[in-house]
Amino acid sequence: MKRSGQAITALTAYDYPTARLVDQAGIDVILVGDSVGMAVLGYDNTLPVTMDEMLHHTRAVARGVQRAFLVADMPYGSYHVTIADGIRNATRLLKEAGAHAVKIEGGQRRAALVRRMTDAEISVVAHIGLTPQSVHRMGGYRVQGRSNEAIDRLYADALALEAAGAVAIVLEGIPREVAAEITARSGVPTIGIGAGPGCDGQILVFHDLFNLTFSPPTKFTRRYADGAAFFANALERYRDDVTARTFPNDAESYHLPREVREQREALQDRETLEHREAVQYCEAQQRLVELEPIGKA
Ligand code: KIV
Repeated sequence: MKRSGQAITALTAYDYPTARLVDQAGIDVILVGDSVGMAVLGYDNTLPVTMDEMLHHTRAVARGVQRAFLVADMPYGSYHVTIADGIRNATRLLKEAGAHAVKIEGGQRRAALVRRMTDAEISVVAHIGLTPQSVHRMGGYRVQGRSNEAIDRLYADALALEAAGAVAIVLEGIPREVAAEITARSGVPTIGIGAGPGCDGQILVFHDLFNLTFSPPTKFTRRYADGAAFFANALERYRDDVTARTFPNDAESYHLPREVREQREALQDRETLEHREAVQYCEAQQRLVELEPIGKA
């Protein structure tokens, strides 16, 4: 697609139904991002996300994907201690969860790991620029690559990762001019997020696209639908229908088979008749007692 100038579409997904929707919409790449930590699990940042959580969500997404290229993020700590750890954890995402590739954050200092993973038949997507797992080192979520020195470092990062075998490079939070130049120089596709239109493809977080992130939108997010308002409206109508006892209605209820219903109705009629006769008998007895002269016994 890069060679033929076709834009690559990418989006995150974290569960089976959204994976199906994204896949069926014809999105080329689905990323089970560690953004799951913030978008779905309610963490403040991506750092607490664990391998178990990534495996769990990647498995769910894999069940919903038929055609897209499925990339799973390696969470913070899963590749930072040793190369062997990184390969072992990446292998789990492929073997146990069904990912086609893994994504790791960081530039030149990850080149050796990318090379070893590639040697181990693991496709690696690199991620440079604003790398959320480095939030504390960056001093917050700040646009990267604004000085000449930082730009040179980004070019060197991209080249080193490509040379090490990365199959694509995510460029996040960098000036559009820098991203366009890295894209032009790079032999592998660049996928941008907050990196301008000059990348080979674009990626967004699913929940940002649908206004489901409950935080002020970033400059680069485009909201394509107001999912929060859509869900809130449906939830309020459901609450009102239950409160007013208009849900469920007859058509939304199961019914007895006609034969069983008729048998039960006949039984009820008989019981009602017997009950009525019993009441009448008691009333008659009561009247007799009342008519009996007191003291006769
Ligand atoms: O975790 C994530 O969703 C990502 C994308 C924003 C690229 O890394």
